[in-house]
Amino acid sequence: MTDPVDDVVATIARSAAEIRQGLVGRRGKADEENPSGELQAEADVWADDLLADRLSSIDGVGQYASEERSEIIDGGDEKVYVAVDPLDGSSNLQSNNTMGTVFGIYDEPLPAPGSALVASGWILYGPITTMAYARDGVVTKYELTGGERTVVEDDVTLPDDPLVYGFGGRVPHWTEGFREFAREVESDPSHKLRYGGAMIGDVNQVLTYGGIFAYPALEDSPRGKLRLQFECNPIAYLIEAADGRSSDGTQSILEVEPTDLHDRVPLHVGNAALIDRLEDVLE
Ligand code: F6P
Repeated sequence: MTDPVDDVVATIARSAAEIRQGLVGRRGKADEENPSGELQAEADVWADDLLADRLSSIDGVGQYASEERSEIIDGGDEKVYVAVDPLDGSSNLQSNNTMGTVFGIYDEPLPAPGSALVASGWILYGPITTMAYARDGVVTKYELTGGERTVVEDDVTLPDDPLVYGFGGRVPHWTEGFREFAREVESDPSHKLRYGGAMIGDVNQVLTYGGIFAYPALEDSPRGKLRLQFECNPIAYLIEAADGRSSDGTQSILEVEPTDLHDRVPLHVGNAALIDRLEDVLE
């Protein structure tokens, strides 16, 4: 039997061109909400069905779970467990801006802590389609064309000098501690604001230029917005493999114990010095 992790990643990478093409004509809303209460786009439902079919039928995949469905799909054998955000940032469909596909491959049944991840990554549907992928502490960047995958950078690490920052949530809803931290980041003349409304686009800027992305705890939503299994764990695993840090405000995202498949968690990822400082300010 081939390695199910390789099979999952190859399947997602091969499907990316099709997902990108399938967005055409699917930019409207579906009449359904996802388990987090957000109105789904037609493309969210379509991409989820496509990935569910393909990934759950791979030998060695024990479960397929996604942000877009409440129940886990059980596969056959149980070796790896796959959690996916099929179309991150799908509200950008209307304005035709960046979106992504995020995946985490765990070696424990879901919901699982990030420490059970064996690989993770994301596809970015930008001007071209790229993939960032982490396994065994090593991050690789690829360009994807049709079914082909070409390595463009090996052993990717965050640049030492942070350049970009992007923070989600309405500013009046930020906590006092986070507001203080944000002011500090903004007042450093070497930092530039980058916020595009799709987490994966903003996180990929951090991976490329160094810096910090956060969707913090909010006064009216103490767990923030982003989902632990499908979004935060996979991103944290990759950014930590790239020598960065992740935090929920007090500890690595990978240490957060899930209580439910669709748990949310405040997410902060980026250069270690900035995350250390964030934790000091929020303490
Ligand atoms: O649902 C996830 C998401 O679309 C992220 O990709 C993005 O960072 C965030 O929501 C945007 O939220 P807001 O509209 O509150 O800025």
